[in-house]
This record gives sequence, C-alpha cells and structure tokens, in this order.
Amino acid sequence: MARLKAGVLISGSGTNLQALLDAAGVPNYPAEIVLVVSNSGDAPGLERARTAGVPTRVIDHRDFSDRAAFDGALGSALRDAGCELVCLAGFMRLLTAGFVESWRDRLINIHPSLLPSFKGLDAQAQALAAGVRIAGCTVHFVRPEMDSGPIIVQGAAPVLEGDDAASLAARILQVEHRIYPLALRLIGEGRVSVDGDVVTIAGGRPAATGTLIWPAENALA
Ligand code: GRF
Repeated sequence: MARLKAGVLISGSGTNLQALLDAAGVPNYPAEIVLVVSNSGDAPGLERARTAGVPTRVIDHRDFSDRAAFDGALGSALRDAGCELVCLAGFMRLLTAGFVESWRDRLINIHPSLLPSFKGLDAQAQALAAGVRIAGCTVHFVRPEMDSGPIIVQGAAPVLEGDDAASLAARILQVEHRIYPLALRLIGEGRVSVDGDVVTIAGGRPAATGTLIWPAENALA
C-alpha cells in the first residue's frame, strides 16, 4: 500500500521530527516524511532531516511582507513535494486561518499539555503553577484557534516533587516522542476519522495499559 506523504514544519531542535523520521525508517510504517520546512535556517532539526536523507527547505518568515504571503509560500512548498498531511513539530509561527482551513483534517500538531488545559507558550510552567499531579501531551488536528482541534492521541506524565519547568518538559518530551509517531501511524493506516470536535479511531481494542494514579497508592510511606 502507498505510504502517506507527510511534510513536517519545524523551528528548532526537532526532537519530535527525529521521532517521526525514526518511525518512518521502520519497514511497514504507513507514512513517509517527504519534506521538512523550517522558518529558520539555524534550526538544528534541519540537520536531522539531512542526515535522514529527507529534502529540506528554509522559508524565512522575515522575507515576507505579511503572514498570508509566508503561508502561501509554505503551502506551495508542501504541495510541490506532494504532501498529503502536514505535521507541526515545534513550529513557532502562528498560521493564518486560510492556511489552516486549506489543510483541514490534514494538519496536525503536538502540544506539551493535556489539552484543552494549558494552551499557548510555557505549557509545562502553566501546569506546575496550576499544581496538577498529572501532566502530558496531545497530538491534535489543527483549527484556526491556537492549540485547539480534535484530539488524536494523548499521553500522561506525572509531576514529581521538586520539578521545575525544565525537568517536567524533559519528562513530557519522552512521551511526545512516543505519541507523535503513533498518531501519524494511525492516520497513515486510515483509522482516524473526525466528526465535529471528536476523533474516532477504528479497530482499537480495549486498552491493556493501566490507570495512572499519582501519587501512586503503593508509593506512600
Ligand atoms: C515540543 O515540546 C512540542 O510539544 C512543542 O514544541 C516542542 C518542540 O520540541 N510544540 P522539538 O523541536 O520537537 O524538540
């Protein structure tokens, strides 16, 4: 079966991009990364793509007079590469509603919180400030309103005593690297459908994984 052609937009280190590249390198994975675009020529993630042999483009937002023109160039690059799906992976530019609608249900994002909690920047610091015991991350279809849209996969991580934003972010990032490839796999397998605000995943079985209760009942003196 043909593999789903995905483009990835990045701005920075690209560890989630790396997780997607690694997954796509495994035989029988149902998606391939055909293009990586960065809005910054300095993004370390570009080197990850080159190492994996994936074509890269730098489209610098500062070269465009407005967001619509920048998004137009992004769209052209993605279409020219034959992308059927676009993955945002630490892409730090807001996209216009026109761009988002033109990729409706074909544009996904990863965010380091259990949405709809803690949208926007510094989600991990927001989680600490709110005192939640369980944090996590979300892969979702993108809608024009920032960090909103139908949820595909979520993963949880405990908040530990003494955590700061950096230590919590590192723990959540480990989970991100598992759920982003999972979400892309589910879409590539054609299992994911969207009905209004809700995603349905076909062929799921009752979960074998346990419930996360934190602090754990057996971990208290
Ligand atoms: C991740 O925490 C992701 O959830 C957020 O931006 C960060 C990107 O990290 N959207 P990386 O570039 O994938 O390492």
